[in-house]
Amino acid sequence: MNLSELLTKVQELRQEFDERLATITDNETLEKLRVTFVGRKGQLSMLRSEIPKLPVTERKSFGTETNSLQKHIEKTIAGLRIELADRQLAETLQQARADIDLPVVDNNGARHPVSLVTAKVHDIFRQLGFSVMDGPDIDFVDFNFTKLNIPEHHPARDMHDTFYLQGDQQQLLRTHTSNVQVHTMTRYQPPMRVISTGRCFRCDLDLTHTPMFHQLEGFMIDDNISFAHLKGTIETFIRELYAEQTLSLRFRPSYFPFVEPGAEVDMGCVSCKAQGCRVCKQTGWLEVAGCGMIHPNVFEALNIDSERYSGFAFGFGIDRLAMLYYGITDLRSMFSGRSDFLGQFPLC
Ligand code: PHE
Repeated sequence: MNLSELLTKVQELRQEFDERLATITDNETLEKLRVTFVGRKGQLSMLRSEIPKLPVTERKSFGTETNSLQKHIEKTIAGLRIELADRQLAETLQQARADIDLPVVDNNGARHPVSLVTAKVHDIFRQLGFSVMDGPDIDFVDFNFTKLNIPEHHPARDMHDTFYLQGDQQQLLRTHTSNVQVHTMTRYQPPMRVISTGRCFRCDLDLTHTPMFHQLEGFMIDDNISFAHLKGTIETFIRELYAEQTLSLRFRPSYFPFVEPGAEVDMGCVSCKAQGCRVCKQTGWLEVAGCGMIHPNVFEALNIDSERYSGFAFGFGIDRLAMLYYGITDLRSMFSGRSDFLGQFPLC
């Protein structure tokens, strides 16, 4: 073969390689293709074996062409190798993809009765136009007591069996969710309609008390808010939660320094339909909340005009609400961490 025939061959070989390469989808065939074209006994070697037959002056230009083809083949093969590896990886990842939408089945856990009831509480109050706020579990004495009209040395502070932070009488574990009233009124001006739920702490442990418990705080401040709004709100809430139309409520006068007048709320026992049973200690009534009209001193301490605004506040024990909701008789079982107890509850 003369030079021009050989150069045509190189051209044809390049074309053939490109065409075959385009059909390759796996590494094995790619390797075969490499051996066929640039292997030791491959097509390119065969063409090169013609070099000695060419006149010396023509060898160089032929050599340049074959070298350039070799480079082209090796480079394209290396490129495709990477591409195939990428494709393979993507495929593996696609197959191994975790399905995070896997539907929850029974043995995937349960929610705590307090969490379940808390969610219901949020739903009910959202429907009544309340915002849900959060407050800190660790707080300053000022927010937990002083601004709530409970000055230092006031006996009401002793009623709370407070956990103070070590070496610091200025910080404590909040004894009630009423601290959220202070945080909210510090930041916002009325009108406001707020609830907050969360953990509270008191150094107390017996059949009906645990050192950590949960409360629901609610308050509403606006022009002309009266005790009637308070009663209506509490009544609506209790009836919604227990889906009980006939349940009676009773407001007993009581004392909390941050409200005036103040009251405690009893509801007809849901366990025995107010007939008298162990849960209500045969009285037919269950104490569920403290409440009242926000004391003007609280407004004044938080720069809210007590001449213009009035408001109500209430605080429920959520653990109690949850026990009544699910018919749980022992408060301690709620915080025992026992899976046979906790596993009985639904996920929503
Ligand atoms: N914070 C009071 C308590 O824990 C309950 C309460 C809240 C009373 C709001 C009145 C108004 O006992």
